[in-house]
Amino acid sequence: MNNIEKEIKIHFVNGLIEIVLDEISKYPEIIVTEKGTDFLYIKFFENFGIMKNFRSILKVVLVVRDPKFNPLYISNHKSILGDLIKDVIDNSNKSYFKNFKITCAGSDSKEISEINEYVKETFKLTKSEEADAKIHIIKIDEVWEIGLQITARPLSVRDYKVRNMSGAMDPTVAFAMNYLCNLENAKNYLNAFSGSGTLLIEAGQRFSNLEKLIGFDNEKEHLSLSIQNIKKAGLIEKIQVKEFDIFDNPELGSFDVIVADLPFGMVISKDKDLENLYKTFVQYSENHLNSDGTLAVYTTEFDTFENALTDSRFKIIKKLKLKIVTTQELYLNTCIFICKM
Ligand SMILES: C[S@@+](CC[C@H](N)C(=O)[O-])C[C@H]1O[C@@H](n2cnc3c(N)ncnc32)[C@H](O)[C@@H]1O
Repeated sequence: MNNIEKEIKIHFVNGLIEIVLDEISKYPEIIVTEKGTDFLYIKFFENFGIMKNFRSILKVVLVVRDPKFNPLYISNHKSILGDLIKDVIDNSNKSYFKNFKITCAGSDSKEISEINEYVKETFKLTKSEEADAKIHIIKIDEVWEIGLQITARPLSVRDYKVRNMSGAMDPTVAFAMNYLCNLENAKNYLNAFSGSGTLLIEAGQRFSNLEKLIGFDNEKEHLSLSIQNIKKAGLIEKIQVKEFDIFDNPELGSFDVIVADLPFGMVISKDKDLENLYKTFVQYSENHLNSDGTLAVYTTEFDTFENALTDSRFKIIKKLKLKIVTTQELYLNTCIFICKM
């Protein structure tokens, strides 16, 4: 079974492909063989563990594909899966994986039971619903794919998150938004509506050149969570967050970059509708952004944001449309806008 060609499959948010390709292009050993809207297949390379550090990717899976690799075939040739598991374990700490789960249609079939027994016995792993070794056996078009995620948690689950705030940004999207702001040439960075601090932390971790990183939000609970996250990321000396309302025109200085994951789909106080809030934010950014600075906005409310720009000096220089899969497995259409004056 040694001649079966392994591949690496990476998953990312639909719409982020150019950022992902750019991030992986720094590594000449990474050769892309197939592109989809939210995945790439990559030629197998021994040192695939380096991909654990990538910031724009949701998850990395080691896979084999073949039209004949159905559950019956795999139960008769268990070493196909065994080789994948061995490779992933060799690329991790020996005790990293403790339990496993196989996701497959017909997971209570005789074949899958036999495969489960094999994994338990051979790798001394326990079968569990909340598994850290996530195995899948799925049919995509006419081809069966057998895969094992190379990390217990998706790469997009960052270690600095104390807990998840409802409405917090996916960290890979926050990374992408910062990536588009030319932060390597910036000194100071403002995150309006900073929530749990995802944009600030992604910027602080990546860009040591940033001298001033400030966020503000009008919700005490969000500020408190952001401080916990910032502390956990080891960035408390570098990032400040303050309690301010955009309608109070906070005076925090001027900035090379202003970013905002604008409130959307949420109830804001009755007298302050979303149109008004977006307009107020755009005016605020005009007054506090340095002349060749960058404004980056993330929202689902495309029209409201574009309308808010009409009477401003801002021009949209880039729009990146994304499709986010929500926890209810629904799609949410969002957009990153990059603007200049
Ligand atoms: C979409 S969330 C930002 C989430 C953030 N990017 C994160 O990853 O946690 C929008 C934030 O705007 C804040 N907000 C809403 N209205 C505001 C206002 N008038 N002034 C300041 N912040 C406000 C909310 O408290 C919320 O934290």
